Parts: sequence; C-alpha cells; structure tokens
Amino acid sequence: MNRLTTSGAGFDLARYPEDPRDPFRAWDAADEYLLRRLEGADGADPVDLSGAVVVVGDRWGALSTVLAAHRPVQITDSCLAQRATLANLDRNGVDTDAVRLLSARDTPPDRIDVLLVRVPKSLALLEDQLHRLAPAVHPDTVVVGTGMVKEIHTSTLKLFERIIGPTRTSLAVKKARLIFSTPGPATARTPSPWPYRYELPEGIGPVSGRTVINHAGIFCAERLDIGTRFFLGHLPERSGPDRVVDLGCGNGVVGLSAALANPEATVTFIDESYQAVASAEETFRANTGPEAEARFLVGDGLAELPPASVDLVLNNPPFHSHQATTDATARAMFHGARAALRPGGELWVVGNRHLGYHTRLRRIFGNCATVAGDPKFVVLRAVKR
Ligand SMILES: C[S@@+](CC[C@H](N)C(=O)[O-])C[C@H]1O[C@@H](n2cnc3c(N)ncnc32)[C@H](O)[C@@H]1O
Repeated sequence: MNRLTTSGAGFDLARYPEDPRDPFRAWDAADEYLLRRLEGADGADPVDLSGAVVVVGDRWGALSTVLAAHRPVQITDSCLAQRATLANLDRNGVDTDAVRLLSARDTPPDRIDVLLVRVPKSLALLEDQLHRLAPAVHPDTVVVGTGMVKEIHTSTLKLFERIIGPTRTSLAVKKARLIFSTPGPATARTPSPWPYRYELPEGIGPVSGRTVINHAGIFCAERLDIGTRFFLGHLPERSGPDRVVDLGCGNGVVGLSAALANPEATVTFIDESYQAVASAEETFRANTGPEAEARFLVGDGLAELPPASVDLVLNNPPFHSHQATTDATARAMFHGARAALRPGGELWVVGNRHLGYHTRLRRIFGNCATVAGDPKFVVLRAVKR
C-alpha cells in the first residue's frame, strides 16, 4: 500500500488483490497529472466537477477514490479494477456507494458533463468506449484523457478527434501527457466496428473453421494467438461428464474446443474482463446447439469456485499486467487451480518455454509433465494428488 497526496488530502491505495510484495503502486504519473489539472494547477482554471462525472479505465480505482466526493460513475472492463476501487474506497473510509461501478458492457449514462479517460492499453477498447460514450457528451462536456507518453500515439489522438472532436495534448510531465478534446456538434456518430468476427484456421481440432466473436480489447481479438493455436493442437482427449474450466477464457476458443470434443462435459468460462466473458458466451452460442450448457463467470481466477469441484482446468495464463511483465497472475491461477481441482483432477497450461511455468507447477502441485513442445511453446500437465 502507498499514499497518494493531492492538494486537499492523502489517500492510502493498493492494487487488487493486495500483495505486500507487489512492487507496483495503484496509480502513476498520468493519474497524478490528471488530478492536478482538475484542481487547476499550472495556472489553469479548476474543472467544475459539480455535474455528471464519468471516469473511464481507472486502473486500480485511484482516480475514483480521490474524486469520490463528486460521486463519479466509473466505467471499466476489468472486474479486478472494480474490486480494487471498492477496496480503496473502503480503505479510506469512503462509502462504497459514492462511486457507481459500470462495466464496459453496461449501458453508459445518458449525459456526461466531465469525461475523464485513462487511456487503456488497447486502442480497440478505447475506440469502442468512445463510441459508446459519444452520444452522452454535449458541447460543454469537459473531456480530458491521460496516459503515459508511451501509451499515447497519433492513432490514440485520431480516435479522440474522430469520435469526440478537436483534440490537442499537453506538455509531457514526468513522462505523462494529457489529452483535451472539445466535443464538436458535427462529430459523426458512427457505430462502433466492434465486435469483430473471424474464422479460425483448419487443422486445429474441433474448432477448425469455426467463427469466433471478439469484443473490443480482448486478448488476440483480431487473430488466433500462436500459443493458443499450439494448445488447441494438444488438448486432452477425454469423455464423460467432465467439469472443465477455461481459465482466462478470452474469446473462449479453448473451452469451446473442449465442449465440442466432449459433448458430455460442462465448461465454465472465466475471465476478469467483461468483454472477454461476453465474447466467450457469444462464441459458444454461435457454435453449439440450443441444448448445449455452459457457465460464464466474470471473476478473479478460480476464487469463486468451491474446492475440489473441477475435473480439468485449461489455461493460457496472462504474463502482462498494465505494461509490466509478471507471472504473479499465472502463479495465483495455478494455486487457484490446485484448490478447485478434485484429487486426480488436472491442470493443463500452455506457455512460452522461457517463462519457466514447469518450475512453478512442480512447486505448487509436486509434479508436472510436458505434454508437447516446440521451440517456442510448451503444454504442461499438473495433477492434483
Ligand atoms: C493469454 S490470455 C488467454 C485468452 C484465451 N484463453 C486464449 O488462449 O486465446 C489470458 C486471459 O486471462 C485473463 N485474465 C487476466 N487476469 C485474470 C484473472 N485474475 N482472472 C481471470 N482471468 C484473468 C485475461 O483477461 C485474458 O483474457
């Protein structure tokens, strides 16, 4: 936990789930720059926050917590960001009702007077979110984006320009930059190009040639990931009423493959991204009959599943968290899999060879076998003893 000090107060903030060994703060220079600008630093007038304030893409709830007195609406695709926000509000003695939490899939508010956008890693998610929010913006809406210099590209500014209106940027301060957009009455309100559908290649088992549906911002939304492709070629062949989890499901292609290969299996698709779980559900429905059953959960790994309730976990873990390479999520997923699996149940993981997941799995499960490998990827199997 760290303390963010603004001109008015100090806030104790942490990422979620809180980990005392986590070297990363719950905010960065881009958040600080935006907050200073709202207060009217550097000779500018303070921004009037008495109207409807919307905060988009707040990573760990730092902006929402500092602005809680203005009762903002927060819009994010990440359930971890929502949980971080609730924990940070609580940590600072703020009523959690002070911030209205909406997901990227929820209907946005009808009218926005101040729109604050923490530029997301995914340009596609930004495009989709701006499209959804543009109808609520009026000529007097104050629109301010923020991000680290390395996150703001010409393409980012073009999106603001095209969807909101004339756009300029601030000077860089501590490698962060602000984006100011003035809503233009003539701004063309074109529909979002998302979701995007593509056809899978041949030669990847039961999902060959199938169509996947991808909402903006999800992992590999425009093409099949090469690691996923390798995984699809080496999934376990099983039969009977297996309880399978596609952990970190993205568009759900891995779980769909398991469901098509074994119609008696019940697959649970889990991701921390609302857009991902919506994509997985639409992909599943588009490729199975009306009688096919599956569960779709937005959540943090396997935390919500009862112990010993799963036969098979399939996992292509993330190895990035907001620009930082880390295996913390993979580790948490492996621990969660061990708890959720019944004795004899199996975790199958695909990963880049260099990530060393086999060492982690051996430490957590006491065993790990390599099922398949090529120069880049390995598929590993660990059994719950
Ligand atoms: C490498 S992608 C794999 C996506 C998909 N299974 C595939 O192979 O195409 C990892 C996925 O894990 C999800 N994820 C990250 N952290 C998570 C968490 N704590 N709980 C659940 N899912 C998470 C990401 O949103 C992302 O969709």
